[in-house]
Amino acid sequence: MQRIKFLASLLNPQLNNDNFKCVLDIGSDHGHLLKIAFENKYISKAIATDNKILPLEKAKNNLKGYDVSYFLSDGFKDIPLDTAYDACVIAGLGGITIQNILTLAFKNNNAKYILGPNDHIYDLRNFLCNNNFKIIDEHIVYEKFYYIIIVAVQGNMKLSKKELYTGIYLKNKPLAKDYFNNLIKILSNINLTCDKITKQKNDILIKYYLNY
Ligand SMILES: C[S@@+](CC[C@H](N)C(=O)[O-])C[C@H]1O[C@@H](n2cnc3c(N)ncnc32)[C@H](O)[C@@H]1O
Repeated sequence: MQRIKFLASLLNPQLNNDNFKCVLDIGSDHGHLLKIAFENKYISKAIATDNKILPLEKAKNNLKGYDVSYFLSDGFKDIPLDTAYDACVIAGLGGITIQNILTLAFKNNNAKYILGPNDHIYDLRNFLCNNNFKIIDEHIVYEKFYYIIIVAVQGNMKLSKKELYTGIYLKNKPLAKDYFNNLIKILSNINLTCDKITKQKNDILIKYYLNY
């Protein structure tokens, strides 16, 4: 629950500068994140969405008594266009899926996007930079694996190739050293048996990670 609790804590008005009026959770599954946020009084209104009926039914059951609207929807596709939200969580999904979902995010809102990709972090950062999103913070959570949480808003930003791999907000985060050392270890192990071209590519990444 470490990851989910951390994601919920990003909705806590006492720890952040925001007091979100309505949180949209895309891929809410059984609604655990929203339940923690409601129970701790971080939020008072939410929208739970999933592209599968069963998880959405479980969420309805788990979130009984709270002010929640539900949509069976692939990403934003079947969420009514006039739906208002000022925070949007998309977590526990692949980075490419999150990227695909964000292509239909409602434009011209001031919402904060809290993104928890399971993989393809580089691609997601690259997508955000090229699609009018600006990353405003990143976090690392450890629960069996290291997870990167990206916080973004609509806006503009440019990142260098190195920054797309390392992010620019992880430097001083508590788990940064462990996270990057772990990536270096994985690449160094691959380098023991891989071909020359892969090793050259990995060596560039190792350099980036050493100098995060
Ligand atoms: C692994 S769970 C993650 C649940 C929770 N968000 C978390 O961070 O733990 C992924 C959920 O997203 C749903 N999902 C997958 N693709 C989706 C999409 N394109 N749109 C909406 N929900 C999606 C799945 O049905 C599943 O319930």
